[in-house]
Amino acid sequence: MRIARIGVVVAAVLTWAPLAQAQTAPTFAKDVAPIFYSKCVECHRPTMFAPMSLVTFDEARPWARSIRQRVAARTMPPWGAETPHGMFKNDPRLSDKQVETILAWVDAGAPKGNDRDLPVAPKYADGWSIGKPDAVFTMEEAFQIPATGVVEYQYLRMPTGLTEDKWIQAIEIKPQARAQVHHVIAFTQPAGQPMTAGGALGPGNIGGVTPNKPGVVFEPGVGRLLAANSDIILQMHYTTNGEATTDRTQIGVVYAKQPPRLQQRGGSVIQPRFAIPAGAPAHEVSGSRVLATDTMITSFTPHMHMRGKDMTYTAKFLDGTTELLLSVPKYDFNWQITYELARPRLFPKGTEIQVVAHFDNSPSNKFNPDPTKVVTWGDQTFEEMMIGFWGTVVERAAAPTSQQK
Ligand code: HEC
Repeated sequence: MRIARIGVVVAAVLTWAPLAQAQTAPTFAKDVAPIFYSKCVECHRPTMFAPMSLVTFDEARPWARSIRQRVAARTMPPWGAETPHGMFKNDPRLSDKQVETILAWVDAGAPKGNDRDLPVAPKYADGWSIGKPDAVFTMEEAFQIPATGVVEYQYLRMPTGLTEDKWIQAIEIKPQARAQVHHVIAFTQPAGQPMTAGGALGPGNIGGVTPNKPGVVFEPGVGRLLAANSDIILQMHYTTNGEATTDRTQIGVVYAKQPPRLQQRGGSVIQPRFAIPAGAPAHEVSGSRVLATDTMITSFTPHMHMRGKDMTYTAKFLDGTTELLLSVPKYDFNWQITYELARPRLFPKGTEIQVVAHFDNSPSNKFNPDPTKVVTWGDQTFEEMMIGFWGTVVERAAAPTSQQK
């Protein structure tokens, strides 16, 4: 009698345990795919920069270990700012719950689950993340990227053939040689004129692309001007990786249905005067700019190269008080992240924007190409830059033409 009862209890425990696990272990279809679709596949899909697609179970499954590692370390999705959730609208960080779900999924053997639970995968029109473009412009000629060596910045022309001004609602730069394109900055100039390097930081800048920013969609009512009779010039930064190839980059644009109320512009603090001593672990470089007009700031984009360590933006108001606007404590030059404010802020004329950066030229910086060199300003990634960009919007009618990014 007694023995029989124990037998029943044992049997119950044995059947109960696996059942419970099957119920609680997260599955790809039900629990993990929704996270990947909202946080990862923007980059991790075919035709994008990231090394593998995470759209289907079969694509994601072989990467389970690596996914666990990156998600636990919180190095994926990439993000560099030390700011509360909610401050930046493009903050991609996973919640603690999402991290737990992914880790539990991997630890349970990364099960597939039931296909019926699978959410609909996000759609991308021919690989464009901005939707179907109204116009696609293509580089006049393909550029030959050598297998090795340093490629100087290239300035390559893209005729638009536009006979009237257009307002850009969304823009995406699609490099062909994704593995070799480090970044692209696009700017406009009157058609047929000789190309000038300065345009990239000057008035005609229409946007850039980096591994982190496939496409830019402006808020409703905000646009960027693409003037009639202009060429788009691409400042192309190619990095060699052992394989020779050709690149013919394209730009897709979606036009605004009507002229926007606000125009997207930008400003920056640039500090080109510095010499980072050999081996210095935290060399400080700073600069500032006093805003000449009331300025509505929408975003911040710190820009340094491989020795970039950290950067802060601080506002100093006319009454002498200061406020930290952005802190990027662990800058990573692989991710040229634009931090888009959830609520754009108006800074009164006379506010000083102070930008402070540190550079790590020591051997313990694993990206450092040569800690024995003194490093100064230059285009190449083994040289340095110190730029604190910001985005602004201005009333379209009142737009000055001199202060654009
Ligand atoms: C902004 C674009 C972007 C987003 C968003 C993003 N990734 Fe990545 N991911 C990349 C790029 C580019 C690489 C390759 C460079 C690197 O390894 O850092 C990468 C690398 C990885 C790797 C390493 C692959 C290897 O070689 O082992 C893993 C794992 C990964 N991502 C997982 C994720 C997961 C999971 C998410 C979402 C929670 C995510 N990523 C979101 C762009 C992105």
